Amino acid sequence: MSFSVAAVRRQFPILSEIIDGQPVHYLDNGASAQTPDAVLDAVRAYETTGRANVLRGVHRLAERATEAYETARIEVATFLGVEPLEVVFTGGCTAAINLVAYSYGSLLKPGDRILLSELEHHSNIVPWQLLRARSGVELDMIPVTVEGRIDLDALPRLLTPRTRLISLAHVSNVTGALLDIRAVVTLAKTIGAKVMLDGAQRAPHGPLDLPALGVDFYAFAGHKAYGPNGVGVLWARPELLEAMPPFHGGGSMIGRVTLAETTFAPPPRRFEAGTPPIGQAIGLGAACKWMRGLDWTAAHAHEMALVQRLMDGLQKIDGTQILGPASLQSRYPVVSFMLDGVHPHDVAQTLDSFGVAVRAGHHCCQPLMDRFDIDGTTRVSMAPYNDNTDIDALLSGVQHAARTLR
Ligand code: ALA
Repeated sequence: MSFSVAAVRRQFPILSEIIDGQPVHYLDNGASAQTPDAVLDAVRAYETTGRANVLRGVHRLAERATEAYETARIEVATFLGVEPLEVVFTGGCTAAINLVAYSYGSLLKPGDRILLSELEHHSNIVPWQLLRARSGVELDMIPVTVEGRIDLDALPRLLTPRTRLISLAHVSNVTGALLDIRAVVTLAKTIGAKVMLDGAQRAPHGPLDLPALGVDFYAFAGHKAYGPNGVGVLWARPELLEAMPPFHGGGSMIGRVTLAETTFAPPPRRFEAGTPPIGQAIGLGAACKWMRGLDWTAAHAHEMALVQRLMDGLQKIDGTQILGPASLQSRYPVVSFMLDGVHPHDVAQTLDSFGVAVRAGHHCCQPLMDRFDIDGTTRVSMAPYNDNTDIDALLSGVQHAARTLR
């Protein structure tokens, strides 16, 4: 396996487009990544040679669609290092976390505790607050260090005999910090708490081995992992899925329905009510296969070289401050920064005029912004197809913002 950024770039049609007279410097991968030909081809094949509903028809198109859908489940499972029947297709990462909060959450009792952190995305806070309002569970929050990492030194004092679940970001969508999962899982096991990871920002950077991580639930989104919008994945240990009641009711998730009562299908179908996002799941399967074909040791080294180039360049611009770990250790290619005296939205608009796409604002992490007493940051989030020209265009744009907006 080898890695060539030029060869990777050629597989993403949008990267060779000229849009409004400018090349595409796409550095907003944390919000949504771009899509390679392999995914576009898989979706097109479904739409043009096998479009039908799944798991219900007996005609050949239905059989084709069902086979493609279940093959996608196998691809996702292989990517995660788990069994296909442990993989639930959802509408996205947010939908996957809500599924757990609703279904697993319904098994919790008033006074049971769920431990989150201050750096969580709103999608890993709000579902638990809704559960708290419904069921009387309590929420605890792990603080964040000045470096923008979850402060694991605080973990022992926050765990209680009533802590049932710890749900944390595998990689922060703001600071790029990678969680030390081993430390979390080891402590969680001492009190029998389950561990859930929001993998939205980790999954786009290569295959996982969930059994080795020792976690209980894992969620990620298709569109951030080079797949289509409208699909995501929940993985859970089979005994947990087996014990969990349905979230949504409807077709396909049933065993037998009478007017008096319903029995439910085993997982994963129990959690896939109605027509699922079929083409999207097939595209996500292709994205997982595509990711497995990449040399991630080289791709990650490439991504981190871009992080270094970016951080070195930002540090030379007067008045910039990086929010996140200064070292490349235990970090992924997401870099947030502030430019003194300039609102992040203005930085992002200036960058757009240079053909550079980034995200600016609170990144759906208002508690983290409160922790640092800031309105927001400008965030650069990279993928293996980014190259030095993207970083250099961004640095030119930030220099221009620093010169003209202060
Ligand atoms: N959760 C996505 C982000 O961080 C949308 O940008």
